[in-house]
Amino acid sequence: MELNWEELGFDFNPTGGQNLRTYFKDGQWQQPFYTTDEYIPVHIASACLNYGLQAFEGIKAFRGVDGKVRLFRPHAHAKRMAAGARKLCLPMVSEEFFVDACVDIVRKNVEFLPPYESRAALYVRPILFGTKPCLTVQAYREAGFCVFATPVGPYFKEGIHPINAIINRNQDRSAPLGTGDVKVGGNYASSMLSCQEAKDLGYKAVLYTESVEHRYIEECGAANFIAIKGNRYITPQSPSILPSITNDSLRQIARDKGFIVEQRPVDIAELPTFEECGACGTGAIITPLGNIFDPETGKTIHYCDETGPVLLDLYHSLQDIQYGRTEDKHGWCVEV
Ligand SMILES: Cc1ncc(COP(=O)(O)O)c(C=O)c1O
Repeated sequence: MELNWEELGFDFNPTGGQNLRTYFKDGQWQQPFYTTDEYIPVHIASACLNYGLQAFEGIKAFRGVDGKVRLFRPHAHAKRMAAGARKLCLPMVSEEFFVDACVDIVRKNVEFLPPYESRAALYVRPILFGTKPCLTVQAYREAGFCVFATPVGPYFKEGIHPINAIINRNQDRSAPLGTGDVKVGGNYASSMLSCQEAKDLGYKAVLYTESVEHRYIEECGAANFIAIKGNRYITPQSPSILPSITNDSLRQIARDKGFIVEQRPVDIAELPTFEECGACGTGAIITPLGNIFDPETGKTIHYCDETGPVLLDLYHSLQDIQYGRTEDKHGWCVEV
């Protein structure tokens, strides 16, 4: 299949490549198999279709400057999916199986891994889903686990150029004792309307607030919120935020550079005091926020027209590790 690496968006780009599947039945995971079929037969009454029993991950593999292929922190993604499986009461594959499956899928799709120069990557998507045909809402020990890979360009076409965001106080994506801290489909379903409304108003991202007081910042779209103030790297802490592996990595890099890392509740009122703000995640790595509009006050906080120096430096430092341009001193990459 002919792929134009430079034109790739952050989307499912079909390749005809192989994906992996296995099913949990009769108390154990069955022998995994590979297929090029992009469709999965699920029962019309399955728990995933009817009750949203689904968890997923998004991991990137990069072709390095040295020609080596690196998968970024698959063990951390395995642990996060296991946390989601616990909340959904679904059986989970072992961490070792998860990582081996992701490595195998990269190997089997290596021809679709974009070249080093392209800034693109191979996105690996493991999915866990409830397969039990049921009408009663209860936990069932039947599931499917699959992994597919697709080449992707940057999440935001602007790449590391600032985007604008709008604060949301009237549609919650998750609740403090809910599922916001795990990567399950329902969280994304509950964010659709606010995303669409923001888009209709001309905003690329939604800044979510917590669902109790709507005063503290939670996430920025499907990414964590980060801010820079002097020598401080600040990011919200809340039980309904997804623990981003990119954010965890950036916090470590920031500490390594001598920044003080603060992970704590972040009040909307603090926004004007920040020098740089951004969204971080596997897809975008870091996307700076140029403006944040608050519909309650009608005011826009302007941060930048071009990416600020600290976020730009953090972005390059993380990409340097992912593309093998610098030492991976925290042992984050798994060579494929
Ligand atoms: C809601 C949400 N928050 C944060 C993130 C960033 O997480 P990570 O850095 O592990 O990709 C993602 C994307 O995966 C997300 O969907």
